[in-house]
Amino acid sequence: MAGRIPEETVDEIRKSVDIADVIGEYVQLKRQGRNYFGLCPFHGENTPSFSVSADKQIFHCFGCGKGGNVYSFLMELEGFSFVQAVKKVADKTGISLPEDVDEEPSKPHDPEAQNVLDAHMWLTKLYHHLLRHSKEGRDALQYLHDRGFTDEMIEKHSLGFSPPSQDFVVTFLEKKGFHPQTMVKAGLLVVNDQGEYFDRFRSRIMFPLRNHLGKTVAFAGRAMGDQTPKYLNSPETNLFQKNRLLYNFDYARSEIRKTKTVVLFEGFADVISADQAGIHNSVGTMGTAVSQTQAQLLKRYADEVIVCYDGDKAGQQAAVKAGKLLKQTGCPVKIARLPEGMDPDDYIKKFGGDRFKKEVLETSDPYTSFIINYWKRNYNLQLEGDRIAYIEKVVQEVARLDRAIEREHYLKEIANEFEMALETLKEEVEEVRRKTSSAGPPQAGKPQRHTKPRTSVQSKLLPAFHNAERKLISIMLNNPVIAEKVQEELGGAFNISEHQVIVTHLYAYYEDGHESDISQFVERLDDPSIKELAVQLAMSPSGEEVTDQELDDYMNRIKAERTDRTDIKGLLEEQKLAEQQNDPVKAAQIAMEILKRKKEMKNTY
Ligand code: GTP
Ligand code: MN
Repeated sequence: MAGRIPEETVDEIRKSVDIADVIGEYVQLKRQGRNYFGLCPFHGENTPSFSVSADKQIFHCFGCGKGGNVYSFLMELEGFSFVQAVKKVADKTGISLPEDVDEEPSKPHDPEAQNVLDAHMWLTKLYHHLLRHSKEGRDALQYLHDRGFTDEMIEKHSLGFSPPSQDFVVTFLEKKGFHPQTMVKAGLLVVNDQGEYFDRFRSRIMFPLRNHLGKTVAFAGRAMGDQTPKYLNSPETNLFQKNRLLYNFDYARSEIRKTKTVVLFEGFADVISADQAGIHNSVGTMGTAVSQTQAQLLKRYADEVIVCYDGDKAGQQAAVKAGKLLKQTGCPVKIARLPEGMDPDDYIKKFGGDRFKKEVLETSDPYTSFIINYWKRNYNLQLEGDRIAYIEKVVQEVARLDRAIEREHYLKEIANEFEMALETLKEEVEEVRRKTSSAGPPQAGKPQRHTKPRTSVQSKLLPAFHNAERKLISIMLNNPVIAEKVQEELGGAFNISEHQVIVTHLYAYYEDGHESDISQFVERLDDPSIKELAVQLAMSPSGEEVTDQELDDYMNRIKAERTDRTDIKGLLEEQKLAEQQNDPVKAAQIAMEILKRKKEMKNTY
């Protein structure tokens, strides 16, 4: 098949580089035995939890859980597609790729995903056409023009209009050969109890939501008047996850890289307005709180995030929350202030882009200064008690700042404002810092601290059967003989569903005649979180050696858990039956029994 890089070539290229060399270009790595350690490029940290295994040719961060092979690393860090990542590595090795390789998307080919993407592409075109050229779309176009959106922006962001029909899209998609059921799953159609299909979006302005590669993966439909909801979004699917997508990231990426700054908005309208005003480094959330994933993505590209939310109370509150999260990932944050009752779009439309840049973006406050001010509204600073409480809160916050010069800056402000001695405040801050640093983990004081990797404490907290599954998989990943033994005895009967997925793929992988090669194996796992889990397990120290006794212990624990679960499941069914038969006494007895069993299970953890 034209367009895909043959698997052997992908492997050959991967094997001809050392992952540590590639990662070493981005992360300062220190060698320790067979592994390397460094500061994780995917989340902010001061102690290295990021490790690279030269033997296994994989990386893993014990802090944030990211992990994979050399291709996953480049895809995550550079935002490359799979093909781009392979090309980048191929460049280093001198191995040439077939000429006709598709830029995109050459991920393990998933026909349904491709089908859904195609449907979104066609609908983007259809909705856009209807907005521009149909009679039904005329009011919508007028509405957008009245709101000040230019044709250029309407074109660039492929804004559209969904017609006021029940089945216009149903018919359109059917004609193009799409299966209605798949389209329901994709969130483009809805189905009722009678099995009739309808258009999901009707009479709405359509905002295609593009992923980082510029492909439409969902829609947001805005009501034209006061109908509710104001925005109707596609439901979440494999391709569309609200907390992963950042609106306009595909267009903004290069400008963010260039300026090292990103402006974060809450609404699509704000992003488009800013874009129209020449602020191209802007992205938006779906009106939801910023997620860890989004924060990390932004941090990777920008040295500074300007959070620019609505000027009302809710907006400012959300901005503080976003700022806090972004700051935790290690990203410097500023928060913009807007006049009460205005959102960024309103401001730009009323005062123009230049004033927005000068008076809103350029005068935005560093996060710390913003919250120091923001907190004032919760206190009556005329009262001594309140004043002290407020200053204490500020001291706590300032103590968190890494740089002495920053701490001094804010303390000076407070000292001036409340006529206090700077020295007193400094002492307070130092006191807090001493306390928090000695309250850390016991090894915190040791000189080793900065070179020693953090290991996951998570496993200490997991139930015994769960740990048994993890240990077993980590051994199986490194040892095909043991994997075969487990396959015979346990098969896929693991209790944690992610574990089932991994072992199922692993059995197939070994059956194909492969030796243990984690870096190659993870290529077969589509779901990124499962990939990361497999890498994490492969990297865990228990993965190397094991006695037969231990092996049996692990398997027995897993089996026992499975039996307990099956028992409880059976009891739950009995309970339901008793309820249906109107036998509350019996139902209650069974409920007690379930509780007892669950308690017993917990005690064996
Ligand atoms: P305009 O009112 O057209 O200017 O849009 P806006 O982007 O300014 O909307 P607003 O500030 O009210 O909301 C910000 C973001 O929250 C929007 O862009 C949407 O992503 C989201 N949002 C707002 N209202 C709704 C809603 O009713 N449902 C859903 N799912 N999301 C909404
Ligand atoms: Mn708005």
